[in-house]
Amino acid sequence: MSYVEIRELTKKFDTTTVFENINLDVDEGKICVLVGPSGCGKTTLLRAVAGLTHPDSGVIRLDQRDVTKVEAKNRGVGMVFQHYALFPNMTVEQNLAFGLEQKKLPRPEIRKKVDGVIELMGLGPRAKARPAALSGGQKQRVALARALVLEPKLLLLDEPLSALDAQIRKRLRDELKRLQHDVGFTAIFVTHDQEEALMLGDQVAIMQAGRFVQIGAPAEIYNRPANLAVANFVGDFNIFDPATVERLFGVAAQTSSWAVRPEAIDISPADRKASANGGAVETEVTVMAVQILGAMVRHYTRAQDVMIKVDLLNKPDQRLFQIGEKARISIARNAIAEMNE
Ligand SMILES: Nc1ncnc2c1ncn2[C@@H]1O[C@H](COP(=O)(O)OP(=O)(O)O)[C@@H](O)[C@H]1O
Ligand SMILES: [Mg+2]
Repeated sequence: MSYVEIRELTKKFDTTTVFENINLDVDEGKICVLVGPSGCGKTTLLRAVAGLTHPDSGVIRLDQRDVTKVEAKNRGVGMVFQHYALFPNMTVEQNLAFGLEQKKLPRPEIRKKVDGVIELMGLGPRAKARPAALSGGQKQRVALARALVLEPKLLLLDEPLSALDAQIRKRLRDELKRLQHDVGFTAIFVTHDQEEALMLGDQVAIMQAGRFVQIGAPAEIYNRPANLAVANFVGDFNIFDPATVERLFGVAAQTSSWAVRPEAIDISPADRKASANGGAVETEVTVMAVQILGAMVRHYTRAQDVMIKVDLLNKPDQRLFQIGEKARISIARNAIAEMNE
């Protein structure tokens, strides 16, 4: 039995169905990252899990307890949003103590918990500050601390880093991963950012128009996208439709398209003998452009009328190809993800 179980959950607003009969499992101490285009139902799903909106049917179980009809405040679920909604007239400490005071915990216990989370989040120097005096990153750290101090059974984070600039965003992301390791919380985290999803998620769930099109470990999502939408989300594949597969590689009778990572393609000089790599497919290409991307060197190559991206690691001894040079590319069978849509 999973720690979080969402079963056959359906939510409609009047005549629009946001999602219908969806299922999701999250294990204890893991982060499930939810990604999908705007309007596909991510926030509504989080709100249903938090108890802020009522599903039309289905069941939500948390730690083996059916919470579908339990009031939000009794679910033990914490939420962090993109806009941190701290109390402006309270200091950081007071913001952190607020929820514990509502729960009528004894003073010394509140003090201890607040001090603990301040320490954990490195907020010591800002403990007496008010939100207006904090940077965006600090505010979001306080918002996270405010949720964590209540020791929720489940933490829901709705694009919590989206409003921050790239550098702070990366830092908080790393911090969140460390926190999860130290504290061991269970979370559902919504993001638009593929790097964030792959780095933070123990599991990544791709949502599209109110259904999950793929749920899997980051490596699985990255290497084996189930369809074009997933491939587009995890970016930068070469996509070959069945007719192109036949034309370029001579492999007929395909019904699915192929997705192949640029770094998974081998490239060698055209005069080199065909590789003995059993089962690999090969074709001749012409190098059209070469770009240094950083750790990778991207080669834009052309096979007949098809552009194929090939990446080589940017090592000092790497032989790069010249524009106009003829080359041969080879794709191992296990580097090919077959997609059905
Ligand atoms: N309170 C509401 N009343 C009516 N429609 C809503 C309400 N909240 C969300 N929706 C609709 O539900 C769909 C999913 O919205 P949302 O869950 O916010 O998507 P996401 O978070 O993935 O961007 C959208 O079509 C949105 O317009
Ligand atoms: Mg949303």
